[in-house]
Amino acid sequence: MLVAALALTGCAATNYGDEQLKLRMATVGKDIMWVPSKVDIVHKMLDAAQVRSDDIVYDLGSGDGIIAIEAAKRHGVRAVGIEYNGDLVALARRNAQRAGLQERVSFKQGDVFVEDFSEATVVTLYMGESINARLMPKLLKMRPGTRVVSNTFRIESWVPDQELQSASGDVAFLWTVPAPVEGRWDLSGIAGARVVTLDISQKKQFFNASIDFDGKRVARIDDGQLAGTQMSLEFTHANKRYSLRGQVQGSRFSGRLNDDPGQPVSGVLRP
Ligand SMILES: C[S@@+](CC[C@H](N)C(=O)[O-])C[C@H]1O[C@@H](n2cnc3c(N)ncnc32)[C@H](O)[C@@H]1O
Repeated sequence: MLVAALALTGCAATNYGDEQLKLRMATVGKDIMWVPSKVDIVHKMLDAAQVRSDDIVYDLGSGDGIIAIEAAKRHGVRAVGIEYNGDLVALARRNAQRAGLQERVSFKQGDVFVEDFSEATVVTLYMGESINARLMPKLLKMRPGTRVVSNTFRIESWVPDQELQSASGDVAFLWTVPAPVEGRWDLSGIAGARVVTLDISQKKQFFNASIDFDGKRVARIDDGQLAGTQMSLEFTHANKRYSLRGQVQGSRFSGRLNDDPGQPVSGVLRP
């Protein structure tokens, strides 16, 4: 990224900053230098994350504050930026003030690897692949349903739900934190057996599983999916195709077989 930015800008002064701080691309950060997101990709990122006014957006490595400020301006949210460079924090605060958004937007000087951002419901990034990879374990432990959206850079092995492109050619990626469902579930409501168990082996938003009726394996499931807290799977038993969809809340599941309101299914994850 450093090489790319230097090649693009020749380390030139830009129109960014204000009377107190004239910014150059490649202003030194900690783990990655400052390069600003363009406003059109920022809008795409926030729209794709379906930011609503009750969300809390955290921009990790917030630079001059553009993402947090646009989030508050366009979506009416509370937004927080975490930024290591104190001059950028001060500039971002002035930018928020100039936009009249100081009540809704705040900036914290600190290291994204140290500061707490667990209250976020949307996390935005423009940090580089290796930083994203280091942040991934923490991101995956966030509240299920939290959206993560990254300008330009992927997050290692986490397959994005959506790839975005702006009119100016920038790309971004969107993920939704999946509910943790790994383990053995006892299901009730499925006809044909007294005891139905579902054994799940999870890989981020995807899972494999096996389903047993009264202790006998009846089906393997290779393409189970989680969209945040929404779990869905399909299986075939006795030549019939079944689908099971529903919501996971902690260690409880409630859903429907074959999308039929007359066939409710509930589940409990064994401790
Ligand atoms: C590529 S810029 C992105 C700025 C802004 N998010 C945007 O999209 O315009 C990355 C920012 O992360 C900051 N940064 C680098 N390492 C950091 C760290 N460990 N903790 C907090 N901020 C960091 C840099 O100072 C820089 O402002």
